Amino acid sequence: MRICSERRRFLFLLPLLFFIPHLLSFLELHRDLTLQDHPNKRSKKFDHLVLGPAAGQGHPDRLQCSGTKALNSTHFPTIPHSANTEDNIHFVTVFTVYNASQDSKVISRSTDVVKVGDASYNKVERSMAVLNVFIDFIQVSMPQSNVIILTNPASDLPIRRDGVAVYPIQGEYSRDTLMLQRIRSYLSFLDARLAEQRRGPKNTDHYIFTDSDMAVVSDLGEIFQKHPNFHLALTFRNNKAQPLNSGFIAVRGTEDGILRAKAFLQEVLKIYSSKFMKASRMLGDQLALAWVVRSNRSFDARKFSKPETFIEEINGVSVLFLPCALYNWTPPEGAGQFHGMPMNVKVVHFKGSRKRLMLESWNFYRSSSSISDMLCLILSSGRTKYDF
Ligand SMILES: *[C@@H]1O[C@H](CO)[C@@H](O)[C@H](O)[C@H]1NC(C)=O
Ligand SMILES: *[C@@H]1O[C@H](CO)[C@@H](O)[C@H](O)[C@H]1NC(C)=O
Ligand SMILES: *[C@@H]1O[C@H](CO)[C@@H](O)[C@H](O)[C@H]1NC(C)=O
Repeated sequence: MRICSERRRFLFLLPLLFFIPHLLSFLELHRDLTLQDHPNKRSKKFDHLVLGPAAGQGHPDRLQCSGTKALNSTHFPTIPHSANTEDNIHFVTVFTVYNASQDSKVISRSTDVVKVGDASYNKVERSMAVLNVFIDFIQVSMPQSNVIILTNPASDLPIRRDGVAVYPIQGEYSRDTLMLQRIRSYLSFLDARLAEQRRGPKNTDHYIFTDSDMAVVSDLGEIFQKHPNFHLALTFRNNKAQPLNSGFIAVRGTEDGILRAKAFLQEVLKIYSSKFMKASRMLGDQLALAWVVRSNRSFDARKFSKPETFIEEINGVSVLFLPCALYNWTPPEGAGQFHGMPMNVKVVHFKGSRKRLMLESWNFYRSSSSISDMLCLILSSGRTKYDF
């Protein structure tokens, strides 16, 4: 593997950051295996869409598909929810410019170009494309919403789009501390919002902190309306070791909501720094989240086994628990049972090697104008491992 010695800047999308070095060594391995004509299906990653049968067929509450045609039309063109209310929803994501010359472990593959539809992308452009598609989906599903990108002040993101603001935050953006920095960035951002709120509350602004490899396919304003009393919302799944995914955290933008969400995140930061630094590159924040929630003796973790929304008071913070099945949907990894896609799924998370599928899905949506059909595409392809 070639080691980068040039001074070159790489833009990394947060989730990609952890996965690209793995993927590269993996591809390397795969190449070797094919050279030896060694059949190893599991290591195969595709550079084109691969569709299989859609899971969940015959289940009455799951999306039914015929190829990429949805038999249940569940997602209609958006009549913006937020247009009828005083509430604004802002999506907030952390995205950073990564200076490769400072990390000798980074493998230089900037010549490694992939094609998606009519476009070719090098590694940097791939990350930017994913970020842009993240914004595109929000602008389709929640046209009243803004996207706020929290970033390293040293980076100069080439993003100039309506409804998108770049917000630099001082911090420590090295690879090893990036997930820690992400929580710190959330906290700084909430501090600034609190100060603004105190200067004179206008409309209520709410914040949804997400990974950028997600597609919002439905209006999320209803979370805040249907559940008027929570301060902070998290997504959960039935997974003993990691019941909470850190890729989606919603905060009610009232003074009380921001204050309590901050207290909760500060506790997560404290636990992360004191207990999970060894896992900091990857899972530290998720482990710390779960620790904070479970450490409250009155919390009943059995609630994670059913995909139903519930509210719990954790150390004085009212936490809304939303099922990943709807608000952070991704096909189960590995040997997990796969029962298809709930009909009213709201957020699709293109975790791991599914970034190509995210871009392909957007292209498909642009030509079909049907979110439901696009969900069939995702459903029948979701367990495929792609080249990025
Ligand atoms: C979804 O579509 C299938 C096939 O047309 C149909 O049998 C089923 O009743 C539909 N489900 C709902 C909830 O509309
Ligand atoms: C990247 O690192 C190099 C070498 O340490 C330094 O000269 C350069 O200013 C850095 N660039 C940024 C954007 O941080
Ligand atoms: C658990 O949360 C409740 C409700 O906020 C709080 O009253 C209690 O003190 C917490 N218990 C522990 C052990 O932190």
